[in-house]
Amino acid sequence: MTLLDDYRFTDGRATGCQWYIKAKMKSDDKRRAQYQNGHVAPFPGIKTYIDPDTYEDPTQAVHEFAKEIDTSRIRIERVIGAGEFGEVCSGRLRTPGKKEIPVAIKTLKGGYVERQRKDFLREASIMGQFDHPNIIRLEGVVTKSRPVMIVVEYMENGSLDSFLRKHDGHFTIIQLVGMLRGIASGMKYLSDMGYVHRDLAARNILVNSNLVCKVSDFGLSRVLEDDPEAAYTTTGGKIPIRWTAPEAIAFRKFSSASDAWSYGIVMWEVMSYGERPYWEMSNQDVILSIEEGYRLPAPMGCPVALHQLMLHCWQKERNHRPKFTDVVSFLDKLIRNPSSLLTLVEDIQGLPESPGDVPDYPMFISIGDWLDSIKMSQYKNNFLAAGFTTLDSVTTMSIEDVRQIGVTLIGHQRRIVSSIQTLRLQLFQVQEKGFHV
Ligand code: ADE
Repeated sequence: MTLLDDYRFTDGRATGCQWYIKAKMKSDDKRRAQYQNGHVAPFPGIKTYIDPDTYEDPTQAVHEFAKEIDTSRIRIERVIGAGEFGEVCSGRLRTPGKKEIPVAIKTLKGGYVERQRKDFLREASIMGQFDHPNIIRLEGVVTKSRPVMIVVEYMENGSLDSFLRKHDGHFTIIQLVGMLRGIASGMKYLSDMGYVHRDLAARNILVNSNLVCKVSDFGLSRVLEDDPEAAYTTTGGKIPIRWTAPEAIAFRKFSSASDAWSYGIVMWEVMSYGERPYWEMSNQDVILSIEEGYRLPAPMGCPVALHQLMLHCWQKERNHRPKFTDVVSFLDKLIRNPSSLLTLVEDIQGLPESPGDVPDYPMFISIGDWLDSIKMSQYKNNFLAAGFTTLDSVTTMSIEDVRQIGVTLIGHQRRIVSSIQTLRLQLFQVQEKGFHV
């Protein structure tokens, strides 16, 4: 774990060291250091995201991070969609260099109250802090005349989910991995800035004419209000269940690690050309299945290495999920060595046995995590006491071995052995393809 992660995974409570850093900062630096959910940046020199809500006057935040555009420079051409606050249009923006660039223009419809104006402009205050090729670029805002507008770069192919559905089966694996690499790179940038997206999904990724994917839809609460996938949980939060990590659903623990879970779901959406995650299962069934250890299977034609990465993103224990920097370098390696993408999941399905020798693969989960995931945690000590301390040692166990370590109930023996069979297949895939993040 790096120092940065250490800070990110504390719950906003200042440790001694954080207190010292805070005390050394001037007040403006303090605000800069404020992570989106109260976290503190480790070093003032590193550019970090500033929550616009830390400004008493939200208009001040907009003007700090977004340029005011004179309406004479904007030409609206057509309506391309409807947002929560008003129409989304396409058009042209004349740059100070007199060039005309294509833009998308989000408008705030008349009759709004101050709260709505603030929520609308919040997205611009966030987007305006980012500068990365895989994050949607803010050109500026119009706040001094009506309608109030947010002007962003135009993305010719619209949102990624509908784009993929429209072009089902049309891309090479390398093109799909290129899209995923772009999204991971944008997410690495956001996590380095200390920004947690909370609604990463293919519908919130935009695609330009060169197939470059960019992360969009910023604004937290507003974004979730706007997202038709977001459902109310028992604790009152509005959350896109199928895309969200279990700890974020259960106790609102959003972090870059919960974004990594969502990233795994985006990988699955991309490799299945915009299929709905968990198909028509209800949200409640999705939550229960995940809790039982169920994970989405590989989409048809999906390389083993990519499904392994998805499974890595969907580990119950959030600190075991890959960091975005690991994801980017792993995808880079696959792109540089395309033969690593040739083994598809269907090529190895049905292979029952893992070869006996100790495989050289990273441990995705511990014995404890594995038993938790199949609700058999009560046997953890039986495994450890009998010397089964690693997952690969478990994969050699027969039902007789399971009985001998003290699992007496036949139902429990069956559940454990059936999970061992799945583990064997997964570990075999990893060993075959040498999956290393
Ligand atoms: N729809 C929403 N935002 C867009 C953008 N920036 N480009 C194209 N279509 C969009």
